[in-house]
Amino acid sequence: MTDSSTAGAAHARRDEDILVITLDHPPVNALSADVRRGLADAIQAAQTDPDVRAILLVGAGKNFIAGADIREFGKPPKPPALPDVCNQIEASTKPVVAALHGAALGGGLEVALAAHYRLALASAKLGLPEVNLGLLPGAGGTQRTPRLIGAAAALDLMLSGKHLSADAALRAGLVDTLAEGNDPLTAGLAYTRQLLAEDAGPRRSRDATAALADKAAALAEAAAAGERIAKTLRGLYSPEKIVDAVRAAIEQPFDEGLRTERALFLQCLDSPQRAGLVHAFFAERETAKVPELKEGKARALNKIGVVGGGTMGAGIAVSVLDAGLPVVMVEQDDAALERGRARVAQVYDLLVKKGRITQEERDARLARLTGATTYDALNDADLIIEAVFEDMDVKLAVFAELDRVAKPGAVLATNTSYLDVNRVATATRHPGNVLGLHFFSPANIMKLLEIVVGEQTAPDTVATGFELARKLRKTPVRAGVCDGFIGNRILAVHRQAADMMMEDGASPYDIDAAVREFGYPMGPYQMADLAGGDIGWATRKRRAATRDPALRYVQIPDRLCERGWFGQKTGRGFYLYPDGARVGTPDPEVLAIIDDERRRAGVTPRPFTHEDIQRRYLAAMINEAANVLDQGIALRPSDVDVVFLSGYGFPRHHGGPMHYADSVGLDRVLADIRAYAQEDPAFWKPSPLLVRLAESGRNFASLNQAA
Ligand code: 3HC
Ligand code: NAI
Repeated sequence: MTDSSTAGAAHARRDEDILVITLDHPPVNALSADVRRGLADAIQAAQTDPDVRAILLVGAGKNFIAGADIREFGKPPKPPALPDVCNQIEASTKPVVAALHGAALGGGLEVALAAHYRLALASAKLGLPEVNLGLLPGAGGTQRTPRLIGAAAALDLMLSGKHLSADAALRAGLVDTLAEGNDPLTAGLAYTRQLLAEDAGPRRSRDATAALADKAAALAEAAAAGERIAKTLRGLYSPEKIVDAVRAAIEQPFDEGLRTERALFLQCLDSPQRAGLVHAFFAERETAKVPELKEGKARALNKIGVVGGGTMGAGIAVSVLDAGLPVVMVEQDDAALERGRARVAQVYDLLVKKGRITQEERDARLARLTGATTYDALNDADLIIEAVFEDMDVKLAVFAELDRVAKPGAVLATNTSYLDVNRVATATRHPGNVLGLHFFSPANIMKLLEIVVGEQTAPDTVATGFELARKLRKTPVRAGVCDGFIGNRILAVHRQAADMMMEDGASPYDIDAAVREFGYPMGPYQMADLAGGDIGWATRKRRAATRDPALRYVQIPDRLCERGWFGQKTGRGFYLYPDGARVGTPDPEVLAIIDDERRRAGVTPRPFTHEDIQRRYLAAMINEAANVLDQGIALRPSDVDVVFLSGYGFPRHHGGPMHYADSVGLDRVLADIRAYAQEDPAFWKPSPLLVRLAESGRNFASLNQAA
């Protein structure tokens, strides 16, 4: 092979009569300006080079191309634009082949669709995930994809953002052939030679007509997708634009369709939702950058112990078994152990029933679970997660036992929701081995894992927690020790703000509706009914003795709990769930109880608009989040965002509470809090950090950069 040119991050070399263009821009060959320029120059040079008969595109490293360079969004555009580069590839007079491996996503797939032939290796994952970033495929993807695979399949790909395997892509018609092995260069050269031997010339996606031949049927598919998104992707901006772009692909000539796509893409690019979603993308990738990982290395993780087989212990066991690791579960007695095992089996049985896993997979996972009623069974576990009752004395007793049986260097973790991890560590002789691993319910599904670092937790213990998160495919966020860590501490405060609004005149149904309107999948009272009111009630009773008497205490939730109305599981809570219904209906008796409580508290109810509700709810959340940051409980504002996005259903397109606060302006948030403080100065105390930032014209994002 001879080097004919190297340009930026795209190298062009000749292999006999094939020009191989290698995209080489670690880590994922994102299409930044240098890559686009190098690619465009190489394609252009090939057109007039008499020694080149065909062009092969490959990616260096583990991927073909992961898409446009997301870091460039929102900055002044640099030429050449990606749609132009794609058009240039498609216009090539010499056949262009793309050999795909690893990620061929977004703009990466669009480059491949502009090529004339596509081959995929087994490692390839193809997709147009722009919707997850508030965008649409903006380099011809909305026009070429429907022409190749039809409107319905193209819409499915673009609206779901899902990745297709090489096999699935072949079946869909996105690629022409598959190849064995993991070297795209070897496979690509062989395929290109075969095409040359067959005298295959350029074959342009823009000219493909069969998939959209039945215009009326294609338009009906677009209309159906439009109706679906109105229900399932409520409030999102780019899905509608994707449907509009596909309509253009059906109705307009190719070049006009491209212009429509461009206009729609720019509208998405300018939208606040795009900014929020891109923020979320990077925020999630920042959380694993913590100081301890520079100081300590993860210890081995070959066997995991779980103490407690209740709701959380069983869910954690499933999560670990899913990751391929063996689990030892320890319970109090045989009956409790059997219940724990049954909980785990129940999760897998449901997955088999839904066709998500096979019976053999279920059996293999369950075979990795062993159980015991004595702690000695944990003596070869590398990491043990305690998930027993939320009671300090019980936890101290368990940790004393763990200290006795655990092998040297084993990491001991507590899944406590609120309790003091430093105190739990005092029950052991090795507090450096102790940390909090706070999973969220259901633990096998929820992505968030708060990694709670105590005063004495050793860096390699922290690193082991992060390594476990990686193995379990969780999103880890480092938290310091305080009551409730990051998420539950902040939640307690905005839930209190909601309760105060309820007593002051808003119904729980108004509050839930306003919170849903903001983009949450459910409101705080629907959530409380789902989680079970008894959990919060037990916590409130535990804290009753230490409650600050200056703080207002709304008793409405206690009145419901006293009646045994714990939510869905008891058939009523804030809502009624007749006959096991999963969606609740408003309950006039609850409204009557609220009226009684207002009278008892001497409150004259006043109206709240949805906007009033949203502003108070979010102001309380943002203010407490600022305290959490100021006290070093969270490392950076974007970590708080990730906690709320992956653990509490905060609408992703708003980017998280900190990003949202920046987008509305910290002055406005502070002004709201100061106005609310006129009524209730004990609750609405502006966070010192919020005041400092707002008064110096800074925002939370400025702290991300500093972190
Ligand atoms: N642009 C810029 N940086 C990117 C990037 C992109 N498209 N994709 C990934 N990165 C960065 C990540 O931020 C991370 O950086 P860091 O190491 O500094 O934190 C690094 O690459 C590695 O990424 P991951 O940690 O996510 O690595 P994984 O191996 O877990 O996943 C991946 C790889 C599946 C490619 C995943 O990164 C991914 O999904 N990337 C985004 C894909 C995407 O959304 N593409 C569409 C972009 S929009 C577009 O193309 C518009 C076009 O239509 C015009
Ligand atoms: P649970 O009541 O469902 O389960 C607790 C289990 O621990 C029971 O099966 C009990 O038999 C067992 N147990 C008690 N003492 C034991 C001992 N000494 N040795 C072995 N097993 C013992 O409780 P849940 O909901 O699973 O909570 C467990 C922990 O997880 C608590 O600390 C809780 O705060 C925390 N948590 C709970 C969440 C939730 O949503 N339920 C979310 C995140 C954390």
